Amino acid sequence: MGAAAGAAAFALPTAYAKPLPSPTGQSPTSQVGGGRKERTESFNRADSFIDWQGAVDTDYVEALRALRLAYKLPLDMMRSLATHFKSEAVAGLAGQPSSVRMLPTFVNKRVTGAETGDFYALDLGGTNFRVLRLTLEGGGVVGPVKSMKFAIPDTAKTGTGADLFGFIADGVSRFIALECGGDARGALGFTFSFPVEQSALDAGKLIMWNKGFTASGVIGEDVVQLLQAQLASRGIALQVTALANDTVGTMETAAYKDGAAKVGLILGTGTNAAYLEKTSRVPKWQGAPCEEMVINTEWGNLQMDGYRNVFDVIIDEATSNPGVQTFEKMISGLYLGEICRTSILHPSVARGFSPAAAAQLRATFASPSSFQSSLMAAIEEDTSPTLAEVDRLLHAAGVTSCTVRDRVLLHEACACVSTRAARLSATATAALLEQAQLDQGACTVAVDGTVFECYPHFKQRMEAALDELLPAACTGHPNAPGVKLVLAKDGSGIGAAIIAALA
Ligand code: GLC
Repeated sequence: MGAAAGAAAFALPTAYAKPLPSPTGQSPTSQVGGGRKERTESFNRADSFIDWQGAVDTDYVEALRALRLAYKLPLDMMRSLATHFKSEAVAGLAGQPSSVRMLPTFVNKRVTGAETGDFYALDLGGTNFRVLRLTLEGGGVVGPVKSMKFAIPDTAKTGTGADLFGFIADGVSRFIALECGGDARGALGFTFSFPVEQSALDAGKLIMWNKGFTASGVIGEDVVQLLQAQLASRGIALQVTALANDTVGTMETAAYKDGAAKVGLILGTGTNAAYLEKTSRVPKWQGAPCEEMVINTEWGNLQMDGYRNVFDVIIDEATSNPGVQTFEKMISGLYLGEICRTSILHPSVARGFSPAAAAQLRATFASPSSFQSSLMAAIEEDTSPTLAEVDRLLHAAGVTSCTVRDRVLLHEACACVSTRAARLSATATAALLEQAQLDQGACTVAVDGTVFECYPHFKQRMEAALDELLPAACTGHPNAPGVKLVLAKDGSGIGAAIIAALA
């Protein structure tokens, strides 16, 4: 335990000659500011335990090395991934084969903030669905929002389309009864956060499911009609006038009060981005002439061969849709915990824990999804010297025998996985900004989703990586007129109402 006292020292004991890689691939001492400072501290702490009870513990060193090599994403790799993303995006816009679909959304008018009226919105696409009623007051002001949230049971996600849309319509019915005096009529914006080939602002066919949804009889069908039929059969007089992806809703929610909001991101259960594009740069657009169009990139499906590690491959193969959404599976909340679980149970990392802790971790987190992303977030939240809160969380889960070094290794595993996720998100964001030539002036990137909102340091780590990729855009500096990442809370739901107002 003696060496723990020297936590500030980064230098490896001379007995262990090979230097450990830093998680980003940079020299840790060069990492300063924002997410980098915090990462350097945690990095130094993990290294300070290399010398354990008077000797270098090779198993621990090799576990750290395995983690850091697997998850490092240095600047040259981010640049190569950005180039790959841009070439896939250009192909997608041209209608050529591409893993990035670049779907026209039929949102071709800019939101001004002057839109007014009462609207309903329905937000479906992740762990929960929400029903909202709100008033757009104009002047960029969204009035009080009434809403209800419903957890979506697996039976609805994986049953028939009628089960799923019936469950949603039942939720709307309850909302109307409890929050709207039993009577609701008017326009409803429908946020449906899956890849959809739209044929109008209020019509679109599901291309494929993801994020664990598999409801039958929906792929290839118009999801607006499926919803409208279930509403009608319950006597609900709401009219679906807009269909929107959550990324588009997020961007438009920010745009309601900020004209510089031209990109919307989701970093939650899944991940995706939408942005404002000139139609002259969308060769596949065959619709009515217009100058601009919001494009739903569906970047979660970016093909990641060559960028995935052994753990990514293992978790992809265990999903209901292997080989697709591979970018999403390296970043989003549905997968982060699973990536971490797979990593710490893998022999290359498990060897670094004390035998008792390794055995208990293996038993406690034996089944898929038993290590949630929220647990990772809570682990990273703990910055106390002995990681006392991590100890409490592990005890509660059933891991009762762990040393402070075991906790430090677990903390480091979480940090490696989530730092890579933030850097991957930043890479695609930078590539999109460059592709759309939005990296020159002021641009607000509106972001919604629990990973961005709640995961400790995620935003700062993204900003640090954006600063590396787009140094001139000054993302990390709140007063600079560059690119800014801004939380658009509840944007995915509110935005559908704003798009309904545009309709
Ligand atoms: C998935 C969906 C996409 C959605 C994202 C975030 O990637 O395909 O449409 O925007 O999840 O919810």
